[in-house]
Amino acid sequence: MQSDLRTKLMQALSKANGAFISGQEIAEYIGCSRTAVWKHIEDLRNEGYKVEAVRKKGYRIISAPEKVSTSEIQFGLETKSLGKLIHYQESVESTQKIAHQLANEGAQEGTLIIAEEQVSGKGRLMRSWHSPKFTGIWMSIILRPKIPLHQAPQLTLLAAVAVAQAIEDVTNLQPQIKWPNDILINRKKVTGILTEMQAESDRIHSVIIGVGMNINQQIEDFPEDLQEKASSLFIEGGEQLSRAKVIQRFLVRLENLYTLYLQEGFMPIKLLWESYAISLGQVIKASTVNETIVGKALGITDAGVLLLEDDLGTVHSIYSADIEIQ
Ligand code: BTN
Repeated sequence: MQSDLRTKLMQALSKANGAFISGQEIAEYIGCSRTAVWKHIEDLRNEGYKVEAVRKKGYRIISAPEKVSTSEIQFGLETKSLGKLIHYQESVESTQKIAHQLANEGAQEGTLIIAEEQVSGKGRLMRSWHSPKFTGIWMSIILRPKIPLHQAPQLTLLAAVAVAQAIEDVTNLQPQIKWPNDILINRKKVTGILTEMQAESDRIHSVIIGVGMNINQQIEDFPEDLQEKASSLFIEGGEQLSRAKVIQRFLVRLENLYTLYLQEGFMPIKLLWESYAISLGQVIKASTVNETIVGKALGITDAGVLLLEDDLGTVHSIYSADIEIQ
């Protein structure tokens, strides 16, 4: 929609101050047809506005979309460093892409990149990540840990624990983690984490943790092929949540765990991760790029590698795979 038309439409609706304004009045104010008004109202709805339409009365705005802009996240944020710098955009290709650029340009540790919508959201294993406007949390955070390269996967597990704790803080739900870092509720995926790195030889420049959380979606908001396996906190818990509050809890939890990790190493994080793990001790199918292995999940190593024992007693180290619980 052209922006001057949008401005006029918003003026007309807000001048009504919560009361109804007829399509005819809006059309005259904007200078377009009533059909065009209806189309513009549909655009507003697609952007997250709740607009009531009643025959012979007209339209009124019930609520504007809740945003995850910088001020919304920072107001009341109780962290020391994470999220103190926020890069917010309404629509992006992928927050990971922006995070890489900013990290290259020297962005400080804790910089958060967040968007209302991603049009090319990236998932693990080269998949795409469905990231529609205003319903979920699509964010990437830049860390600059002084740890050896091979320990970087531990941060993915740490981030998964932070997500699980944040979900417990804001709902009564019981999150579980499916190796390495899918967060499930009632066996459906509500969050995915993608960790990427900028490094040379054995020096980490930055670790970029991308988190996609399904928050307020209804089931029909997911594409059909995802409806069986994906869910949102709203679907599972029945309550619409403030996305900004969820982000704040995540940042606090992440900062606490990260501080603990830098002081005491991976062991306390590993114990926490195991307390949420769904797959340990169970028979699972791991599909890697090259093969599929079925076996019992024995546990994870200190590097976050999954150990799988097949029927013959051979223990396989799984670095990257898709896991199905049998
Ligand atoms: C997965 O496949 O489970 C990981 C999904 C990670 C999605 C998040 S959304 C924010 C960040 N930006 C991206 O493009 N991907 C990650």
